[in-house]
Amino acid sequence: MESAGNIAEFLREKSVLVTGSTGFLAKIFVEKVLRVQPSVKKLFLLVRASDGCSVEERFQNEVIGKELFDVLREKHGKDFDSFISDKVSAVAGDISYENLGIKDYGVREQLWKEVDIVVNVAATTNFYERYDVALGINVMGAKNVLEFAKQCRKIKMLLHVSTAYVAGVQEGLITERAFHFGEALRPDLKVDIAEELELLEEKKNQIHAEKKTKEAEKEAMKELGIQRARIHGWPNTYVFTKAMGEMLLGHTRGDLPLVIIRPTIITSIYKDPLPGWMEGARTIDSIIIGYAKGNISSFLGDPQMSMDLIPGDMVVNAMIASMAAHTNQNSQFIYHVSSSVRNPVKYSTLLESGHQYFQNNPRTTSDGKPMKMTAMHVMKTMTDFKRYMFLRYRLPLEGFR
Ligand SMILES: NC(=O)c1ccc[n+]([C@@H]2O[C@H](COP(=O)([O-])OP(=O)(O)OC[C@H]3O[C@@H](n4cnc5c(N)ncnc54)[C@H](OP(=O)(O)O)[C@@H]3O)[C@@H](O)[C@H]2O)c1
Repeated sequence: MESAGNIAEFLREKSVLVTGSTGFLAKIFVEKVLRVQPSVKKLFLLVRASDGCSVEERFQNEVIGKELFDVLREKHGKDFDSFISDKVSAVAGDISYENLGIKDYGVREQLWKEVDIVVNVAATTNFYERYDVALGINVMGAKNVLEFAKQCRKIKMLLHVSTAYVAGVQEGLITERAFHFGEALRPDLKVDIAEELELLEEKKNQIHAEKKTKEAEKEAMKELGIQRARIHGWPNTYVFTKAMGEMLLGHTRGDLPLVIIRPTIITSIYKDPLPGWMEGARTIDSIIIGYAKGNISSFLGDPQMSMDLIPGDMVVNAMIASMAAHTNQNSQFIYHVSSSVRNPVKYSTLLESGHQYFQNNPRTTSDGKPMKMTAMHVMKTMTDFKRYMFLRYRLPLEGFR
C-alpha cells in the first residue's frame, strides 16, 4: 500500500462525483479530501432537493455548515468561502432516477466531461424500509450511478459503499468475495432482481385495486421487503437490497473498475478532524443514549461477544486508500472495513466505558442535581432474561392484580 502522502497526491487535479454527502459518512469523506488535498480539482456533490429547501441551502446547512468543517474553516480563514466555491459544487439529483435525476443537460455534460471518480455512498439505511424505496435506492439507484459513471469519459473507477452485513447471519470467516449474480444466502434459492421488481409492481397494483390507505400501503410495502429478505436468507430489507445492489454492480460493470467497501457498524470519528464527532443517534448510539436517559436498564447479550465497530474516519481512510490503489485496474475489489478479530470491541467495553463516562459526567435532573447512574444489568441467556422479567415486572404486576 502506498504512503499517506502518495495517497493524497493521487487526488491532485481529480474531479470526484460523490452521492450521499448530506449523510454521515460521505460528509467525512468530503471534508477529508478537501483537507488533505486542497489541489483536488472539483468535488461534485449530488444532493436531493427536499421540501422547501433548495440544494444550495441543504449543502450549506447540512454539509459545509457542520462543525466537522471547523478545522478546514480555520485553516483557510477568510478564504474559506472562496475555497469551497472553487472546489465544491452541489448538483441537484436523485439516484433513483436515470441520469441521477439531473435535469439540466449542460450539468450532465459537464460531469461526463470532467469526472474522474464516482463515489456512491447514498443509500437508505433503514433496516425495515419500504421495499419499493429500498429497491429504488439501494439496487436500481446503485445501477443508475454505475450507468452514469460509464458515461464519464475520463472515468477511472466507481467506489461503492456497501455494508459488511450483506453477509447476513453467518459464523466464521467471511471472505472479501463478490456475490455471484443471483446468489442467495439460502443455497437452495436464487435472487432474481427482475422478478423482485415484477413482484413489487404486482403488489402495488393489488394495493391500488384494494384502495388501501397510504398508511396500509406503507405497512404492506415494509412487510413485503422483510418477507422477501427472509425468504432469501437475509435478516432485513436493508442488507438484502444492499446485497442485490452489489450483485447488480458486479454483473453490469463491464470493464469499469469497481471497488466495494463493506464497513461494519460505523461510529464517531477516532482522530481527524474532530475526535468523537458523530451526527444524529445511529446504531450503537441509541443504546448509549437510552442508558444515559435511564430508559435502558438491562441488556440481553454476552458481554464477551465482539460488536464490530469502526470509526467513520477509518472508513474514509480505507475508501481513499483503495481509490488510489485500484484506479484504472479493470477488475472488482472488495474490502471489509471492520475491527473484527484483529482489534475486537466487546460489548463489555461499551457497558463499562458507558457507565464510567456517565458517572464522571452525570446528566442532571430538572432541578439541577446529578443523576445517579447504575451499571447496566446484563443477561447472557434467554432464561436469565425471562427470570429477570418475571421477578422485576411480572411478579409485582401479579401482586397488584
Ligand atoms: N452508518 C453505518 O453504520 C453504516 C454501516 C455500514 C455501511 N454503511 C453504508 O454507508 C453508506 C453511508 O451511510 P450513512 O450512515 O452515512 O447514511 P445516512 O447518514 O443515512 O446518509 C444517506 C445519504 O444518502 C442520501 N440518499 C438517500 N437516498 C438518495 C437518493 N435517492 N438520491 C440521492 N441521495 C440519496 C441521503 O440523502 P438525503 O439527506 O436527501 O436523505 C443521505 O445523504 C450507506 O451506503 C450505508 O449503506 C453505513
